[in-house]
Amino acid sequence: MARTNNGAGSKSTAANKGNTSKGSAAPKSSAGVITLAVDIGGTGIKAILLDEEDKPIGERVRTPTPQPATPKAVLEVVADLARQAGSFDRVSVGFPGVVRDGVTKTAHNLDAQWVGFHLMAALEAKLGKPVRVCNDAGVQGYGVVTGKGLELAITLGTGLGSALFIDGRLVPNLELAHHPFRNNKTYEEFLGKKALEKLGKKKWNKKLQQAITQLEALFNYDHLYIGGGNVSKVTVELPQNVTKTSNIAGLYGGIALWRH
Ligand code: BGC
Repeated sequence: MARTNNGAGSKSTAANKGNTSKGSAAPKSSAGVITLAVDIGGTGIKAILLDEEDKPIGERVRTPTPQPATPKAVLEVVADLARQAGSFDRVSVGFPGVVRDGVTKTAHNLDAQWVGFHLMAALEAKLGKPVRVCNDAGVQGYGVVTGKGLELAITLGTGLGSALFIDGRLVPNLELAHHPFRNNKTYEEFLGKKALEKLGKKKWNKKLQQAITQLEALFNYDHLYIGGGNVSKVTVELPQNVTKTSNIAGLYGGIALWRH
C-alpha cells in the first residue's frame, strides 16, 4: 500500500546518490539532530523544522518567491525563514531544477542566474550549517515512496516535477517537465500552473488523465504519487496504483537526504 503523506516514518532506504549534494555531517545535540527543510518553489518558499523521526517541530513558514527570483533574493528569503523557524543543526533544500553536486543546473521557473550557481556552498556560508540540496520533486518523492519497486512521483505546481525511485533509490534528475507530451508541447506546458490558468480545471484534468495513461505505458511503475500545490485541483478518478499526496510532503522528504 502506498505510504500516506503525513510524513511519519519516511523509511525510504534510498541513499541519495547522484543529484543530491552531500554536505558534511551535522553535529548531534542532546535533543537530536534538527533539520531545517526548505522547499524553494516558483510561487512560494517554505520551511519547517523536522526532528530525526521526520516529525515537524513547530509551524511551517512561507514567503512568496521574490521577483525576480535571483539567487541573492532567494537566499535572503531562506535566511529569513530560517530565523523564523528557530534553531537547527542542518539544512535540506528542495530546488525546482536539475541539481548536481550542490550546483543548480537549470531553473525554468526562477531567474537565469541560477544556471551554474553553487547553492549548497552559498547556503552553507549564509547559514553556517551543513546543507544538502536535491531536486524538489526528488525530495517530495522521498517523503512519500514506500521503498518497494518502481515508484514515480510527480508534482503539480508552478512547474511539473518528476522523480523516479527504484526500491527507494532516486534515479537522479528525471525531467519530464520539458519533454514533449503532445502537439509539440511539453508536459509542463500542459500541466504547469500557467496551463491550469489557461485551460481551466476541467481541461487541465483531462490532460492529466492523458498524461497518466502515457506515463504508465512509458514507466510501467508499481505506483504513481501526485503531489504539489495544485494537487487539490485534481478531480479525475485515478487508477488504483495512483495516489494523491499532500503538498507538505515536499518538506518531509528532506530527512531522507541525510540517510545513508
Ligand atoms: C523543473 C523541475 C522541477 C519542476 C517543479 C520544472 O520546471 O524543470 O526540475 O522539479 O519544475 O518545480
